[in-house]
Amino acid sequence: MSTILLAGGAGYIGSHTAVELLNAGYEVVVVDNYSNSSPEAIRRVEKITGKTVKLYELDIKDNAKLFEVFKENRIDAVIHFAGLKAVGESVQKPIMYYRNNIDTTLSLLETMSEYGVNNIIFSSSASVYGENNPVPYTETMKRGVCTNPYGWTKSMMEQIFEDAAKADENLSVILLRYFNPIGAHESGIIGEDPQGIPNNLMPYVSQVAVGKRECLTIFGNDYPTHDGTCTRDYIHVVDLAKGHVKAIDYILSHNCVEIINLGTGTPYSVTEIVSTFERVNGIKVKHVYGPRRAGDLAELYANADKAAEILGWRAEKNLEDMCRDSWNWQKNNPNGYNQ
Ligand code: NAD
Ligand code: UFG
Repeated sequence: MSTILLAGGAGYIGSHTAVELLNAGYEVVVVDNYSNSSPEAIRRVEKITGKTVKLYELDIKDNAKLFEVFKENRIDAVIHFAGLKAVGESVQKPIMYYRNNIDTTLSLLETMSEYGVNNIIFSSSASVYGENNPVPYTETMKRGVCTNPYGWTKSMMEQIFEDAAKADENLSVILLRYFNPIGAHESGIIGEDPQGIPNNLMPYVSQVAVGKRECLTIFGNDYPTHDGTCTRDYIHVVDLAKGHVKAIDYILSHNCVEIINLGTGTPYSVTEIVSTFERVNGIKVKHVYGPRRAGDLAELYANADKAAEILGWRAEKNLEDMCRDSWNWQKNNPNGYNQ
């Protein structure tokens, strides 16, 4: 039975991945400082799966404490979710973003090297394709010029992993480039729980629907897209989580360095998200059109073929599933994990 350490595993994507790994028979150890999450998420993972998770509260930048975790557990692979991810905040606080995101990565790589752990999967982002690559994004494209410090941390961390793997032939790395994860576990027991005003579209839509926010502003309707609003490759978080299980299966049986997109390959516009949410859930989402948001690209979606070829994975859930499950989580947990 292989044991997988989830760095930042109490967060949105980590908690959903924990469920799928446990369901697939893996043991799971979670390390998190709860800077953007709650241990309640892991208690609920245990409730959904009927299995236990070993949980450590610590800052991954703290090497000495991380060493203790690796000493106490025989880790076969690491998934590195731990990071700060708010694009706007990264512009205001770049040093905090570089410090946290890059130091957690270095700390994990040093500890893995010390304990002979050779497999790591990293949460990268479509943002590393930058401004100038044409859509759909394919993994063979060069990393581009990012529009904000958050994107740069991802780009730099990809470089760090590639350099580390070049220097150590035993080290296997899979860089997973996520597109736009939305939705929640179909039980409605775990989901996305942003602190304060949501930066991202789907949590904002759900909070308007539940009455926590007055009105959604759609950022721009003069883009060169079919309806004038931006398009994105939205992917159900449970599909994304299952992609991680496939990546773990793969890395445990291959010595590899791979970059893999996790998206559906199908873009939807902001207006389509709002109208699908309203139709599927039978609820109105008050919205107005406002100016463009700085740094937004008109269109962004994946070529999703490599994940199918290498991992045997494709997203299975559609936009209706994503909207239904987002709402199911939000209406059952209007205050997220703070009941
Ligand atoms: P999240 O904020 O819900 O989860 C990240 C977790 O890392 C949180 O639980 C947080 O407390 C923890 N963490 C942060 N710094 C830490 C530290 N120094 N020590 C210990 N724990 C720490 O975010 P998420 O949406 O689950 O994203 C997971 C990863 O995927 C992140 O690296 C994010 O940048 C990346 N990503 C997310 C998206 C998205 O839209 N959600 C898109 C692309 C990439
Ligand atoms: N949007 C609105 N109103 C809102 C929030 C968002 O109209 O209140 C629009 C945005 O303008 C954009 C779309 O909804 O057109 C999606 O915006 P999100 O903020 O949800 O997502 P982004 O595509 O901007 O960014 C996300 C993650 C990043 C990641 C990127 C690419 O937040 O971490 O996808 O993977 F890098």
